[in-house]
Amino acid sequence: MSFDHVWLNAHLATMRDDALGLIEDGAIAAKDGRIAWIGPRAALPAHDAPVTDCGGAWITPGLIDCHTHLVFGGNRSAEFEMRLGGATYEEIARAGGGILSTMRATRAANEAQLLQAALPRLDALLSEGVTTVEIKSGYGLELEAELRQLRAARALGAQRNVSIVTSLLAAHAVPPEYKGRQGDYLRHVVEEILPRAASEGLADAVDAFCESIAFTPEETATLFTAAKRLGLPVKLHADQLTDGGGAALAAAHGALSADHLERSNAAGIAAMAKAGTVAVLLPGATLTLRETHFPDVAAMRAHGCRMALSTDMNPGSSPALSLLLMLNLGCTLFRMTVPEALLGVTRHAAAALGLTDRGVLAEGMRCDLALYRIQRPAELCYWLGGNPCAGRVVAGVAA
Ligand code: NIG
Ligand code: FE
Repeated sequence: MSFDHVWLNAHLATMRDDALGLIEDGAIAAKDGRIAWIGPRAALPAHDAPVTDCGGAWITPGLIDCHTHLVFGGNRSAEFEMRLGGATYEEIARAGGGILSTMRATRAANEAQLLQAALPRLDALLSEGVTTVEIKSGYGLELEAELRQLRAARALGAQRNVSIVTSLLAAHAVPPEYKGRQGDYLRHVVEEILPRAASEGLADAVDAFCESIAFTPEETATLFTAAKRLGLPVKLHADQLTDGGGAALAAAHGALSADHLERSNAAGIAAMAKAGTVAVLLPGATLTLRETHFPDVAAMRAHGCRMALSTDMNPGSSPALSLLLMLNLGCTLFRMTVPEALLGVTRHAAAALGLTDRGVLAEGMRCDLALYRIQRPAELCYWLGGNPCAGRVVAGVAA
């Protein structure tokens, strides 16, 4: 058969079923960037393609980090110290710090500076086997700065061998020039920022922060209706600090995902399961904010709600640069099983982004792979730190 490249002497975690679809001593063949053949090595058809001997490594689909705020100016280590001294995330936000302090640093940076600041963070994720990263805006909070963030995110995809998926998160906080006029800002987002981001092809989806310190469910619904009118899928930061009915709201709008969910109620989770809305769990934020409420994983499991795991990489609530560490935290903090955690950074993370061409190793899927020097897949969740990644393949090419 005609292949471009073959990988063999590897064990495969295909993610095609809930037990991870394991194939011991397997082989994968790529053609035109896709998986053309996958199975046990003994069944590999005759071919004359170049071969990589993986030396007994494990191969998974390239990992997908489906919720990040990777592009921003400055950092908030000073607020980290304030929280250690007793201040809460909400207190800092209400005092003009938090998201607004990153907004000031982000507005002050040009596109090249945003790109340069984000590159090492992206490289940290890629070094662990990530091949797709979602990046949100939400630190510009005005037309040009929001677009600049999204352009920097797109530019990252040209600088590195990775797929970048963008989300417009202009409804993240109310900027100071709209203080006391939240409705006017939301109208500005709906009538000006959203249409421009859509017409310039800068946003693959629209996100919002539905929360007591951010936007109301009604405002979120208005934004979602406008996004869908422009043909853009929606997702939501929901029920992180308070239960505002965000899970049910996301489900009612057919959102791709609802994210955080620390305080979601069982009815909301049931509605998500029914709507096919993926629950994106962000243990980096739970840990950093020393949250005492955890997402109700047992209810998600019971209702058959798909769960994804992500870094939520951002300078405030989750300065997390390791998706493998999130696998560990998903298991230790949230009590996910190893298969649930691993599906959460592959198959279900792809679903959270509306991507049907990746996240599973199967014929016809993109040939995005991560190779690991481990004895068992559970090691990806087990180690606290260290990096067993031995290589990445993006669209059939070693990256
Ligand atoms: O996903 N919850 C709101 N947004 C981010 C935090 C943003 C920030 O603190 O800068 C989050 O946790
Ligand atoms: Fe977030």
